[in-house]
Amino acid sequence: MKKITIAIDGFSSCGKSTMAKDLAREIGYIYIDSGAMYRAVTLYCMQNQIIEGEHIDVEKLKKHINDIHITFQLNPETGRPDTYLNGKNVENEIRTMEVSSKVSLISAIDFVRTAMVAEQQKMGEQKGIVMDGRDIGTTVFPNAELKIFVTASPEIRAQRRYDELKEKGMNANFDEILENVKQRDYIDQNREVSPLKQADDALLLDNSNLTIEQQKEWLFNQFNRVTQSKQ
Ligand code: DC
Repeated sequence: MKKITIAIDGFSSCGKSTMAKDLAREIGYIYIDSGAMYRAVTLYCMQNQIIEGEHIDVEKLKKHINDIHITFQLNPETGRPDTYLNGKNVENEIRTMEVSSKVSLISAIDFVRTAMVAEQQKMGEQKGIVMDGRDIGTTVFPNAELKIFVTASPEIRAQRRYDELKEKGMNANFDEILENVKQRDYIDQNREVSPLKQADDALLLDNSNLTIEQQKEWLFNQFNRVTQSKQ
């Protein structure tokens, strides 16, 4: 069967990555979490005093951007890819609240986006890829055969992130997370470069009241519909 490109965009913490990962595993495609790449750049900035508080040393980041190498490797225990920053597994570090609260600032910088988009396009050259993010259907793979735009209410998304952090034994405060979700929505939708927006040809999925199983089934049906019509 001819392989296709699948772009899954949407708001933060709306379960995009869970559905994208599960679909990729089921159909034998590569899965790439593009948000993890922006998170890894943010972590690099924190580790190298490029970002202090809200202040970013943009010139220093520009000098360092080509030293930031992000890769993914399948974790045999979880069956899912872990994120590596310059050869080091940073999968847990990039999920902390500190990274979450700074990543929108870093991902709004044009040359950071140009570098990440170029890497993402390279990863998708052979098709057979499911990528999730904010600008996959609009900028990274505008010709993707299947585009989904996922949304859910901010409260439901904050609860999901809270549960996820708690499950990992990490610190979590619901109100702080809700505030962070709303703030990121605002920055993601209003930034100048590649703002979060539904592609004209994307299918909208509001999963506020869907179980993971239901959304998995919905996505799988969309995949079958598109691939069968292309045979
Ligand atoms: O999906 P996430 O919450 O892990 O994404 C982290 C941040 O990265 C989020 O604030 C938006 C940004 N992002 C982006 O600008 N473009 C993407 N393709 C993916 C994520």
